[in-house]
Amino acid sequence: MAGVYIHVPFCKQACHYCDFHFSTQMKKKGAMVDALVREMELRKNELGDEVVETIYFGGGTPSVLELHELERLIQAVYDHYKVMDNPEITLEANPDDLVSSRAQSRDIFKDFRKIGVNRLSIGIQSFFEEDLKLMNRAHNAQESEHCIEEAVKHFDNITIDLIYGIPGMDHDRWKANIQKALDFGLPHISSYALTVEPKTALEKLIQKGTVPQVDDDQAQEQFHILVELLEEQGFVNYEISNFGKPGYFSQNNTAYWQGKTYLGIGPSAHSYDGLSRAWNIRNNSIYIKQIQQGVLPSEKETLTVTDRYNEYVMTGLRTIWGVSKDKIAKEFGQDYANYLEHQSEKFIDRQLLFWEDAILRTTQQGKFLADGIAADLFFLE
Ligand SMILES: C[S@@+](CC[C@H](N)C(=O)[O-])C[C@H]1O[C@@H](n2cnc3c(N)ncnc32)[C@H](O)[C@@H]1O
Ligand code: SF4
Repeated sequence: MAGVYIHVPFCKQACHYCDFHFSTQMKKKGAMVDALVREMELRKNELGDEVVETIYFGGGTPSVLELHELERLIQAVYDHYKVMDNPEITLEANPDDLVSSRAQSRDIFKDFRKIGVNRLSIGIQSFFEEDLKLMNRAHNAQESEHCIEEAVKHFDNITIDLIYGIPGMDHDRWKANIQKALDFGLPHISSYALTVEPKTALEKLIQKGTVPQVDDDQAQEQFHILVELLEEQGFVNYEISNFGKPGYFSQNNTAYWQGKTYLGIGPSAHSYDGLSRAWNIRNNSIYIKQIQQGVLPSEKETLTVTDRYNEYVMTGLRTIWGVSKDKIAKEFGQDYANYLEHQSEKFIDRQLLFWEDAILRTTQQGKFLADGIAADLFFLE
């Protein structure tokens, strides 16, 4: 069982906070699609007999691609790998691409369905103009709502992204954002705390004093508001940033958190085969050039047992599946299980972690702190 992730490294406009890999120069879009198809061909033996269950277009902004380009990429997955019947095919889309006149003229939602896309992930971020402006999003508040109104006519499996902890967004505006999302009756929401990444425009604006500092306490409180409001409505917070109604958890992300194999195609994409990780170069021109020459522009690292233990603890604590002591003993050795038990004691005393049937999980209070707690449980060689 495996997933294929395809990175589409183009955006119309750079959001102030984002350090994902993308270019706002669209000139190489055609050559990039050729290269993505060629990379799949070059790596056609990597999945062996594993069956692809999920195909995920991430970015960047996959919705900037033309329909025939997306169709070609999906076809390439079918050409080079074994794909199950009716796989989950997710497309990340930005609101402005979904409601532009170009989108309407081509009946974009029907087109997506026609080529097999069955899950849409829409980058709303906020329903309020002030927040969208501060983040330099390419869409406005009206488009945030309008694209969902249109999307629900064609898709039931829709998720939206929302960002909290935005400077100037008080708790009332955050609650109003969540309420608007709930009013659409969507089955899934992903929500992230705004992080100030090094060298982004946001970091510079904060340094200059143009934008206020991000307040960690505000973010933590807004996370708890989010959990409370969504759980009340039947959402399961199955991973720190992900909330789904039963039956609507992202199969792609779930596979990733459960340590299944995935193949990452495109510049900056990561791959995992159970024993090693590989990552492609974060540069469009070099990526295209090397692929054209039949060379894979990637680096690979074989994971040690300690790396695998550390990764399992990190992802396990972020999810409802938690960290299994028995699995650790079986897969990594009893020493690791003993270490986990000993290291976790202080967090159990502080009611940030708890054991249930030999599974270690975060409490409601510990959830937002999961990454920091996990770092303390890491085994250092
Ligand atoms: C990299 S984007 C790709 C999808 C699409 N381009 C979009 O903007 O929605 C995926 C998500 O990551 C989140 N994200 C990226 N950088 C972030 C940051 N610095 N802080 C919080 N969330 C971030 C945003 O919510 C965004 O929707
Ligand atoms: S958040 Fe999305 S649209 Fe904005 S720059 Fe990042 S990838 Fe592009």
